[in-house]
Amino acid sequence: MEIGTVTPLAQDGNPKPRLFRLPQDKALINRMGFNNEGADIIAERLKNWRKRKAKATDKHPLIIGGNIGKNKITPNEDAWKDYATCFNKLHHYVDYFVVNVSSPNTPGLRELQEKESLRKIIWNLAMINNGKAVAKPILLKIAPDLTQSQIDDVIDLASEVKLDGLVISNTTIDRSGLLTPVAEQEMIGAGGLSGKPVRAKSTGIIEYVHKQTGGSIPIIGSGVFLPGWMQERKWLLGHPLCRYGPVSFTRVRVL
Ligand SMILES: Cc1cc2nc3c(=O)[nH]c(=O)nc-3n(C[C@H](O)[C@H](O)[C@H](O)COP(=O)(O)O)c2cc1C
Repeated sequence: MEIGTVTPLAQDGNPKPRLFRLPQDKALINRMGFNNEGADIIAERLKNWRKRKAKATDKHPLIIGGNIGKNKITPNEDAWKDYATCFNKLHHYVDYFVVNVSSPNTPGLRELQEKESLRKIIWNLAMINNGKAVAKPILLKIAPDLTQSQIDDVIDLASEVKLDGLVISNTTIDRSGLLTPVAEQEMIGAGGLSGKPVRAKSTGIIEYVHKQTGGSIPIIGSGVFLPGWMQERKWLLGHPLCRYGPVSFTRVRVL
């Protein structure tokens, strides 16, 4: 189970309504905006949960991921500090991290996918990680709207920093090809589109990254695993990071 996106400070997220169904497209549009209670409270809750669980003898213990981001009020040049704060506060209580630089609902966040911004964030987290008694896997979650050269930059960086994996992908801002009438889409307004319309894009990026890297970077498909699709692409599930299959990486959120 992945928790987040967690930010250093609590924030309310965007005003409601902020989640919309597009039944004709089997899709959702959301602009939640990282509504969360902040890293301190979430770390405390995880700590208590771990304490209660310590005595349990589960055959398959729950794998907990910490998906981390920046507060809306934090300027992009200071974003790396927000990621470091969340990383430090959650480190002891999660099994892996996902660095989220790809949500369309925090203004400017996706600009952090540019190579230099990303390098600063990830290198800093890698250094902190190396200083801990137990290092935790760090994965990067990317948008399905990146250009090919941006994807190539991500691949370069992933091998430079020895990232533990990529999560592909977040929601899209692309509205092309939707069956939902344009007037209805306009009434809904801004947000990230998920569900069926994003599947082809995500799949394309997964295949591209897999090919370019010769499978050397583990990939977690976010939201792209449908049963038939899964059958065809078992190679994705072969890596140790993915050994629990997609079920363990399902997001559960209280809306
Ligand atoms: C209501 C809602 C809230 C989401 N919140 C987050 C979030 O906080 N952080 C994040 O990394 N992705 C978030 N996502 C993106 C999903 O984790 C997922 O990457 C995306 O929706 C694509 O998968 P899907 O098509 O199966 O929904 C959210 C998606 C939805 C629908």
